[in-house]
Amino acid sequence: MNIRRFVPDDFEHILSIEQTIFSDHNPLVYINFYELNMNGFLVAEENGVIAGFVVGYQLNENEGRIFSLAVKDEYKNRGIGTRLIHAILKIFYENSLQYASLEVRVSNVRAQKLYKRVGFLSCWVEKKYYFDGEDGVIMKMRTSPQCLLYALDNSLQKQVLPIRNGPAFKNPNSI
Ligand SMILES: CC(C)(COP(=O)(O)OP(=O)(O)OC[C@H]1O[C@@H](n2cnc3c(N)ncnc32)[C@H](O)[C@@H]1OP(=O)(O)O)[C@@H](O)C(=O)NCCC(=O)NCCS
Repeated sequence: MNIRRFVPDDFEHILSIEQTIFSDHNPLVYINFYELNMNGFLVAEENGVIAGFVVGYQLNENEGRIFSLAVKDEYKNRGIGTRLIHAILKIFYENSLQYASLEVRVSNVRAQKLYKRVGFLSCWVEKKYYFDGEDGVIMKMRTSPQCLLYALDNSLQKQVLPIRNGPAFKNPNSI
């Protein structure tokens, strides 16, 4: 399994994972994220199949935000979600972002467990954060050199790239 940066040809695969998993589906968001945060959009690939993805961006001068994390059902419980989180934390740290944050549904105990295992702490609850009225838990952690210890077995270790704008999204098969 390899973790690499998203490329436009991955778009259909990302959408199909995203449609299955998230109820508030919006494909345009992913195009925007690619155009605005090219180096914070990572995919996990195994034998040519996109098994999952993570999207992170720079929220402010100190903080990276994880917008989305998803792993295909048949690839769950194999450590892929954890590796994707470690990979985005590494990118945040390399971009001198001292904190990482995210929001997660209060009902999403599985994801919260993963985030806590990686080092996130639950900080506060945003009432009715989601479109369907569910509350969101805001979780944060401090990035540290330890973030560099992970994801050492993939190509991301070789490049330190700023989170910055990507090229305009071009995919003839897209929406
Ligand atoms: C949350 C999510 C991303 C986790 O992905 P995942 O790839 O299954 O995550 P991991 O495999 O790293 O961790 C899941 C569990 O498998 C265990 N695990 C990891 N590698 C394993 C292995 N080789 N063998 C057995 N178990 C393993 C982990 O210890 C973890 O256990 P835990 O529940 O005690 O924390 C995935 O369930 C998902 O896509 N959920 C829907 C979308 C979602 O909720 N996203 C987050 C929104 S904020």
